[in-house]
Amino acid sequence: MAPPRLIFLGPPGTGKGTQAARMAARFDVVALSSGDALRAEIRNGTPLGQQVNEYVSSGALVPDELITSVILTAIGKFPADKGFILDGFPRTVPQAQALAAGLAERGTPLSGVLNFSLEPQKIIRRITNRRICSNCNATYNLLFLPPEREGVCDRCGGTLMQRVDDREDVVATRLAAYEELTVPLVEYYSTQGILHEIDADAPPDVVEQNVADVIAELKGR
Ligand code: AP5
Repeated sequence: MAPPRLIFLGPPGTGKGTQAARMAARFDVVALSSGDALRAEIRNGTPLGQQVNEYVSSGALVPDELITSVILTAIGKFPADKGFILDGFPRTVPQAQALAAGLAERGTPLSGVLNFSLEPQKIIRRITNRRICSNCNATYNLLFLPPEREGVCDRCGGTLMQRVDDREDVVATRLAAYEELTVPLVEYYSTQGILHEIDADAPPDVVEQNVADVIAELKGR
């Protein structure tokens, strides 16, 4: 049975990262978040981090060639027999085309694309209440998934912080970028017959079970 090779697609704040972490543990696959990769570059002050900082903090997408190079390089380091989840990549049709070419070269085509959906008002509520651990990147939510101790990561004791792009005005820019540049991917993958819809408007454990069911079915093919 081939290991699952997946994309988690959908607007910001729909729970892609939350579920990618849960599925990585559940199915023993690698989870790669394009946003986390970029934020690490920014935090470390690398030349790439300096180049992308303005885009990320303003809610705009970084140029295709930059992010594609980062992600294809990272995929090249995955063990060939290991499944993976790409969370947040691709986000444009040119990124999807570059990914398809890279995966074809590697002989590891996609098994499925899971498309998370949630209405905008709920997205904004989730994002503005999100907190992330400055040390291990674990994600919390003040309303829905609060830490046991305020401001402290349950997992590693690190300090929780708010992402600079989680302010309401920046979220609006991110949603607009999604509508303009990422929505066409729904059609792109739908015509390939590999798109699976995920209703993200449910408690995290319910979404987790639905996502796991889809992946288990893909694994069984
Ligand atoms: P990125 O980090 O990828 O952000 P995003 O796609 O906007 O996604 P988010 O991280 O906001 O949301 P999520 O769906 O992972 O939700 P989460 O699980 O955290 O990208 C950031 C930036 O990087 C971009 O704006 C761009 O500049 C750049 N970038 C990245 N990739 C790029 C690309 N390919 N091309 C160009 N530029 C790129 O959940 C959200 C909150 O809700 C959390 O608080 C969580 O605890 C809570 N929650 C989760 N599930 C539930 C639930 N079921 N019920 C209630 N609360 C829930």
